[in-house]
Amino acid sequence: MRGKFITLEGIDGAGKTTHLEWLAAFLKQREIRVTTTREPGGTILGEALRRIVLDRTQRLHVETEALLMFAARREHLARVIRPALDSGRWVLCDRFTDATFAYQSAGSGMDWEKIEALERWVQEDLQPDLTVFFDVAPETGRARSGRVREPDRFEQEQGDFYRRVREGYLRRASEHPERIEVIDANGAVREIQKQLELKVIRHCF
Ligand code: TYD
Repeated sequence: MRGKFITLEGIDGAGKTTHLEWLAAFLKQREIRVTTTREPGGTILGEALRRIVLDRTQRLHVETEALLMFAARREHLARVIRPALDSGRWVLCDRFTDATFAYQSAGSGMDWEKIEALERWVQEDLQPDLTVFFDVAPETGRARSGRVREPDRFEQEQGDFYRRVREGYLRRASEHPERIEVIDANGAVREIQKQLELKVIRHCF
């Protein structure tokens, strides 16, 4: 049987990486074979692109950024995601296409429809079975990610960038309610994990 494809999203500092580790352990306890991966990244090309795209000293045109994200995604789908799903493994991915809509379109102004065209080209009929958007207030996200390490280029963007990114995620959630679940991630970790468990059971079991 084909595995399930779950993607986790949130603005920087939303805590999705912590929740991804918890979810992987939760599924493994149920004897599910799990592949965890991330975007940008997940392949040699993807990790190289990650270094280029997140480099704080370089500014790329926003459409270049989006094209690189989708080039990496094409490779990631062909080499990692589809083979894992076809062999029955579940794939947990830290960020996926909804991040391109949120960051490159809502955040940085790229045309939403151009990203939809790239999505159709690169993914064809493949969509996650479940996408969880961990929703935190932009101030909370900034404070949390600032505590952990130096901000990367995206995190340095000024003004209301994260407010726009959050709005972009919420727009995607309203356009794809069958797949995207929004979890309030401002509160206690245990409470968030309980919500996450319920969503996974509803969409994937
Ligand atoms: P993240 O995975 O949260 O990095 P970290 O492990 O450093 O917390 O974030 C990577 C950055 O890439 C994040 O700022 C969002 C950005 N990004 C895009 O702008 N577009 C995309 O399509 C993807 C997948 C990520």
